[in-house]
Amino acid sequence: MLSQSLTHAAQAPAAARPARRSRGLQCRAQAATGTVVPPRPKNELLVGLVEALFKFPPFFAFAAKNARAMIVKRGEKMGMDFQAEIDALRSVDWDEEVAAARDPTVKYPSYYKKPFHAYPDGNLAMEPALEMTVAARSVHSVVYDPEGKKLDPEGDAKLRSTFNDCTKVLLEEQGARPVQDILDVGAATGLSSLALLKAFPGSQVTGIDLSPHMIAVGRYLQRQRNADQAAAGQQPEQLRFVHGAGEDTRLPDGCMDLVSIMLVCHELPAAASQAIFAEAFRVLRPGGALAVMEMNPASPIFQRIFSNPFPYVAFKSTEPWLLEYLSLDMPGAMTAAGFLPPRQLENSPRHKTVVAVKPQQ
Ligand SMILES: C[S@@+](CC[C@H](N)C(=O)[O-])C[C@H]1O[C@@H](n2cnc3c(N)ncnc32)[C@H](O)[C@@H]1O
Repeated sequence: MLSQSLTHAAQAPAAARPARRSRGLQCRAQAATGTVVPPRPKNELLVGLVEALFKFPPFFAFAAKNARAMIVKRGEKMGMDFQAEIDALRSVDWDEEVAAARDPTVKYPSYYKKPFHAYPDGNLAMEPALEMTVAARSVHSVVYDPEGKKLDPEGDAKLRSTFNDCTKVLLEEQGARPVQDILDVGAATGLSSLALLKAFPGSQVTGIDLSPHMIAVGRYLQRQRNADQAAAGQQPEQLRFVHGAGEDTRLPDGCMDLVSIMLVCHELPAAASQAIFAEAFRVLRPGGALAVMEMNPASPIFQRIFSNPFPYVAFKSTEPWLLEYLSLDMPGAMTAAGFLPPRQLENSPRHKTVVAVKPQQ
């Protein structure tokens, strides 16, 4: 998350760039695109210099601090007090909450224990979990502006709802089974899970995440929502959080209708995405589907970021598996896991929705 704000921060001073595509969503589904490697910046010398700068700890710390400050500043510009939201969560006794969320039998893959998003302990720490909601709202506030500048307080909600809208179109187009049981892989604190519950009324969502800190914050926020709902005479939400790995969910075979993976694959080595797709295939019922929403390397916005040395290095230095994600042949990995060839829609000028169905037999 923070990496994207580092990237946006890096882009900010640049001159106005031409809008290359309309704000509208792509309406026609197509076969999912395979590997698209965006061009590297041409000026290798400058890339080397910027890389050296980012490897210099005081500069990296300065850039990370600025990116965090920008998250809060964007909130202010949108009329929201993001700092107060983070501070309110900081007052909770998280040691106890995290201990209750942690499943001691869960093994962390080595790729997961790296610094991510300028957080030294990656997602295995309180800070990213406490900042998750405001970081998502800040980073995604610019997603639908081709210039990446105009702030939309609804950007995050829109990114998630357009994903689920595209998923529904692609499920219907491919004759997938009706959706009742959903697995949300990499659910973090539940933003993607809540969007799924809203998009598929009456469904039951299991949100799994490797970070006990994310699960702890997700459960805490859920308790608050459920208390509000109970006071209003409503039923508790049908979402359960599980601490675990997407590649080893420990769920029974064939218990899900939809496995959703929102904004997770760019944080994984290609082999881990492949393993998670295989696990999704196992837990899905015949006719069930896998839906992935991710950055679209083929989009003009990503091509632009990757051809500019500063955003390129900023992005890469806070997303350890970004280049691996770019090398991932997503349709190839899905069909290798047993799925039918996936179909794709673009749900933002820089994100794609890819849906693959498990054959009926
Ligand atoms: C960028 S966040 C996305 C969260 C959420 N899906 C959303 O859209 O807001 C990625 C999440 O994936 C989790 N994650 C990464 N690798 C995972 C894995 N192998 N299994 C389960 N969760 C994983 C991280 O802990 C993190 O919470």
